[in-house]
Amino acid sequence: MSDLYSKQFVIVTGKGGVGKTTVAAALALSAARRGLKVLVAMCNEKERLSKLLGTPPIGPRVCSLGERIDAVNMTPDVALEEYGIMVLRIRAVYRAIFENRMVKAFLRAVPGLDEWSMLGKAWYHTTERVEGAPRFDMVILDAPATGHGVDLLRVPKVLLDVASAGLLKREAQKCWDLMHDPARSEILLVTLPEEMPATETIELYARLAGELGFPIERVVINSLVPPLFDKGEPEAILDATSNAPHAEVEPLLSAARSRVLRHRLERESLERLRSELPLHFVTFPFLFTPGLGRAALEGLSLILERGHAPAPERGHAPAP
Ligand SMILES: Nc1ncnc2c1ncn2[C@@H]1O[C@H](COP(=O)(O)OP(=O)(O)OP(=O)(O)O)[C@@H](O)[C@H]1O
Ligand SMILES: [Mg+2]
Repeated sequence: MSDLYSKQFVIVTGKGGVGKTTVAAALALSAARRGLKVLVAMCNEKERLSKLLGTPPIGPRVCSLGERIDAVNMTPDVALEEYGIMVLRIRAVYRAIFENRMVKAFLRAVPGLDEWSMLGKAWYHTTERVEGAPRFDMVILDAPATGHGVDLLRVPKVLLDVASAGLLKREAQKCWDLMHDPARSEILLVTLPEEMPATETIELYARLAGELGFPIERVVINSLVPPLFDKGEPEAILDATSNAPHAEVEPLLSAARSRVLRHRLERESLERLRSELPLHFVTFPFLFTPGLGRAALEGLSLILERGHAPAPERGHAPAP
């Protein structure tokens, strides 16, 4: 298994609402703590990262969130403008071409252009250098949820199939090559220990690793509720409910019962995920802190850092 922290490009994806942004933030904090310069690139989302980390809102231009962490919430318009100016070099020429109404209408109709403007921008940041050194050691792409996420990730392939030889095709090829190089890039899956998210994750893995050949080594199972009861207690709780106890203990018993059933559901989903996915599992606990926040994120970042690779086998201590 390769080291997550040696990757230049880490793409975080999964079903909507499973914790992709939370995992991207935890990864950014742990990578920065290890001395890496990190960019978190979000795809035009209702961004929550600034709230999680307690920073001012993050817009479509790269901004600093503190030591060694930058972020951007990419939008197709601004990303395309940056790209146009980079290629054409002069803002006035860009305006004359790209801001022409006819050209704008034409661009809106080009399939995949919005996706490429964002994926291409994130990829471009992996190549940037400042005074001979990489501007970012790791770019974390907080990708859109499953369906849109797959469309976004396969867009370089679409461009390679349809674009004629030229700059666009060369850049799509470089991006596609990076995304397929397990030494430099990986897709980090995120899911919940529940039936539907587990099913979708198994399908997503088959599409991304199987059909599209992307390197995937790890999955984060987010929001595991810690078990409250010891051996034998869950069965006793479930039995007690069916025996109709005194009215005053009923609400307590009902809460305990929900917790037992939740735990069983999680265990079944985890077992299914483990039997279907040949991946390393990192588990994040459900945190009862409203809105999470910086301290909670720091805690999750430590779990990710400690758990991102299997522990060395006994008798095979890591080299000093
Ligand atoms: N381990 C956790 N414990 C408690 N709450 C969590 C945990 N992880 C995420 N959450 C909460 O779940 C919600 C969704 O998390 P997040 O925004 O990271 O998901 P997402 O996959 O990025 O969502 P979207 O698909 O909308 O971008 C948030 O309210 C977040 O605070
Ligand atoms: Mg998100």
